[in-house]
Amino acid sequence: MRKQFAVIGHPIEHSRSPELHHAFAKKMGIDLNYAKRLAPLDGFHGSVHAFFAEGGVGMNVTVPFKEQAFVACQVLTTRAQTAKAVNTLWMENGQLHGDNTDGQGLVDAISTLGWTLKNSRILIIGAGGATRGVIYPLAQAGAQKIIIANRTRSRAEQLVADLKDALPQTELSALALCDLAGDFDLVINATSASLSGDALILPDTLQFQYAYEMAYGKPSSFLEQAHARGCPTSDGFGMLVGQAIEAFAIWNGVRPELKDFL
Ligand code: ATR
Repeated sequence: MRKQFAVIGHPIEHSRSPELHHAFAKKMGIDLNYAKRLAPLDGFHGSVHAFFAEGGVGMNVTVPFKEQAFVACQVLTTRAQTAKAVNTLWMENGQLHGDNTDGQGLVDAISTLGWTLKNSRILIIGAGGATRGVIYPLAQAGAQKIIIANRTRSRAEQLVADLKDALPQTELSALALCDLAGDFDLVINATSASLSGDALILPDTLQFQYAYEMAYGKPSSFLEQAHARGCPTSDGFGMLVGQAIEAFAIWNGVRPELKDFL
């Protein structure tokens, strides 16, 4: 029987997950159907349980339900625990399992670009859910130092305080966005500024080799400034594909190659 998968969110029409998972399945010779499920804002739990009761194999979770998915799971991976958010669900031994594949998706996208994470000094701009979701996998990939810069400094400090103990190998610290300075291998824009059309100003006191924008499909003042400096840059499409591949591998036991889908 054809295996059933879905992505759940509100709204959900914009999701590119079905096209990605169908492309992976075609490449890997797997017969599956991957649908979009719109859950009412107060109906996440009911929709998830109905999907698995119908025999669904795996589900991705998108905005605004990732934190609710985290709370709903009986078993969580370490990276989901550090992210405090879940984007990948499946049932095993009658228990709802949750993982967060966003950070590994970012790590794989960066590696595919040929940029090195081992012993790197990374600046992440933003201290919301997008940042929390990627810190543990970046540290696992060998980042030596991660600085979180945020418009609201206290939010960056809180994130550092929350995650410090889980990442003993990585130097973690916080900075106010207005104090942006230093020399980094990689700078990542994890703010929602590009999504809302706001400009981020990168001062001359800030030096970096590579720039990664987590958003995709939108103009980004962050990428424009990095590009003007002659730095290699990337938008977040590779991360989107990377997180989908990671979920596909968990559910199906085979891993498509990221570079085949960029
Ligand atoms: P997400 O889950 O996508 O990370 P979020 O939790 O709302 O969303 O966080 C958005 C992040 O983008 C925050 O770090 C926010 O900064 P504040 O904590 O100071 O609000 C940041 N952000 C949004 N718009 C911004 C802008 N115009 N300039 C700088 N930072 C911005």
